[in-house]
Amino acid sequence: MTNTMMFRHVGLVGLLGISLLAGEVARAEEDGGALFVSRCVACHQNGGVGMPGEFPPLAGRLGFIAQRDGGRDYLIDVLLFGLRGKIHAQGNDYAGYMPSFNKLNDEQIAALLRYATGIKAPAADIQASQLAAARAKAKSVQDVAAERAALEKTGKLP
Ligand code: HEC
Repeated sequence: MTNTMMFRHVGLVGLLGISLLAGEVARAEEDGGALFVSRCVACHQNGGVGMPGEFPPLAGRLGFIAQRDGGRDYLIDVLLFGLRGKIHAQGNDYAGYMPSFNKLNDEQIAALLRYATGIKAPAADIQASQLAAARAKAKSVQDVAAERAALEKTGKLP
């Protein structure tokens, strides 16, 4: 290898390192609150208070759901695969359709869930690394509804 070639390689590796680092920084800076406003409030309303009979409230609920056994996995699955089916939340029935947000990357979904669980409830420490395994399971909306039903069996959901 000539010296020039050597330099070229070092240069390339250096550049790669910088762009990987830049990606890392961008991911670390995902703003869950801003994502919540742009992706969730159209249905779940400002502050995630919901709309009775149409969109279930998220505020004061998700952080407590996350504390149940399997609760975090359920919330991750709702975001990745959506949810359809009759559910009951805070005195109201819902039979709507929650779209999947699987186009968002792992860090965006983790940031969204950290933010959303923390609205009037203890924020759950959900990390991007938990997303890949969940994605691989490729669940259906019916699977997610069944997961919620199983959670309800551990006690009424908030
Ligand atoms: C197009 C409207 C719509 C959008 C946008 C939307 N949701 Fe939903 N979401 C719903 C509906 C409707 C339900 C209830 C589904 C059902 O009845 O089975 C729901 C249910 C949920 C649930 C399950 C609640 C429970 O009690 O089990 C969570 C969690 C949730 N949404 C989070 C979010 C988050 C976070 C976002 C933003 C990334 C979001 N949703 C965006 C319509 C929406």
